Amino acid sequence: MLDGLNNSDLQSLQGDLDSLTPLDIKIEMFRQGDFDFIVEGIADNSEGDWKIGDFTRHHKQENALKILTDNVFNEFLYGGAAGGAKTWTGCCWLAFSAMAYADTNWFVARNELKDLLGSVMKTFYKVFKYHGITDYKFNAQKNFIEFPNGSVINLIEVKYKPADPMFEDLGSFEYTGGWIEEVGEIHQKAVSVLGTRIGRYNNSKYGLSRKLFMTCNPKRNWAKSMFYDKHMDKSLYQDNKKLLPNGRKRPQRIYLNCLVTENPFIEQEYIDSLYSKASEDKPTYERLFKGNWDYEDNPNQLCEQECIDNVFDNFHVKEGKTYITADIALEGSDLFVIFVWKGWKVVKVLTRQVTQSAQIVSDLNYLKDQYRVSATRIMIDGDGIGAMLKGQVRAKFFRNGGKVVKKGVYTSNYRNVSVQCLYYLAREIVNNDQMWIADENLTRDQKKRIKDELSQIIRVPNKQDFSKLDTKPKGEIKSDLGFSPDYLDCMKMRVWFDLSKELDLTVVYN
Ligand SMILES: Nc1ncnc2c1ncn2[C@@H]1O[C@H](COP(=O)(O)OP(=O)(O)O)[C@@H](O)[C@H]1O
Ligand SMILES: [Mg+2]
Repeated sequence: MLDGLNNSDLQSLQGDLDSLTPLDIKIEMFRQGDFDFIVEGIADNSEGDWKIGDFTRHHKQENALKILTDNVFNEFLYGGAAGGAKTWTGCCWLAFSAMAYADTNWFVARNELKDLLGSVMKTFYKVFKYHGITDYKFNAQKNFIEFPNGSVINLIEVKYKPADPMFEDLGSFEYTGGWIEEVGEIHQKAVSVLGTRIGRYNNSKYGLSRKLFMTCNPKRNWAKSMFYDKHMDKSLYQDNKKLLPNGRKRPQRIYLNCLVTENPFIEQEYIDSLYSKASEDKPTYERLFKGNWDYEDNPNQLCEQECIDNVFDNFHVKEGKTYITADIALEGSDLFVIFVWKGWKVVKVLTRQVTQSAQIVSDLNYLKDQYRVSATRIMIDGDGIGAMLKGQVRAKFFRNGGKVVKKGVYTSNYRNVSVQCLYYLAREIVNNDQMWIADENLTRDQKKRIKDELSQIIRVPNKQDFSKLDTKPKGEIKSDLGFSPDYLDCMKMRVWFDLSKELDLTVVYN
């Protein structure tokens, strides 16, 4: 192979090799897709003289790095427990990508800059030290890390600002790739805006795919429904094969979970402290140790998680009078949902994506006739679009901001009737296993969504009047889940009939 090289060529080659630092070799390995220098090491539990057997390998991290550098996937959610090495992986990927490809532009984003500085930056410093990276500058005024080859990693805050609801501020930069840490804290809109900013800066020069890396602990939010749930029922990968309506390829998505027990580098104290924190508190244990996405650690959640899990199996719930409740939507992301009830048993759930008002009227009339429900037992969400149906459908119309029902069995001081109904639904019905959603035609997705919506009944302090009970506002629920709680609205409206049993129904709401 060295034929044709004269002595001076060989000498200069030798000189080049001599001048290579261990870091240069790591950078070249990274470029070639060999991550041994990151994922191999000595396990933390080895003490003093280490033996061959102490060498260890973080297989999940290696998989994650492969996905981060392949030409297949575009959006990658990694995580689903604490201590699996999410942050370390993100820092290694960005640092080595920036060093391996001159003049590239990367970001790491979080809800708040102070969290980036307090946690991600600390891990960057650890990674720099561990891998002997000294040649970088951190600009603390403008919050970016710069390397001598001209590459940059920007630290960006993506907090929701009412003055910029569409996150247009994020829209003007061009990046090679980026990472969103604790993505569940971030508005879905911000994530989609960031997704449009990557793949735009020297990607074709180096053959780098558009790559959005996301990390988070398990939580009930849009990331769960968009990645975890779809990963579990495999639809994530079926969706990847479908084309967009405009005939273009979809962003190729993938989810990979990683538990603390899969991280061979974890310090024993970390496991011990996580374990002692988690052992007192089941949801924390389930979420952070076992990576269970179906546990909410919010102590203010009004429905007990176990009871939420029961709503499709409460066969003991007896049938009673028939009611219909309906949440109206004509277009956009909201659903049009009708529940038909016999007592607290849901016998029929009708869901439509997009509807026209004639369709709504005919659906309602059809179900009203089929189940023989009188107009006094039909409740329609009367806010917004629902109001248009007044005069077209004989029914009651629910006003979310309406006054609480005073004569009902449940008379504490609530901000409005909607909050009152949600409290009653959670405490009296769900937590006593008194609701059975018995429609066998519900899909797995719909069931998951119903459960996620029930977990969003969350107590919050009322800012105007501390004496009043309040629940998490719908806008916040929408932004956390990524969709409107349309099923929950139908369940909430059913409560009204229980509360107002003693009232003259026609007087209060019509
Ligand atoms: N490749 C690695 N080499 C050395 N240490 C690692 C590696 N990956 C992870 N670690 C160790 O594991 C610890 C936990 O990883 P971290 O990324 O903070 O977890 P997470 O963000 O998932 O909670 C880190 O503090 C680090 O000490
Ligand atoms: Mg972390």
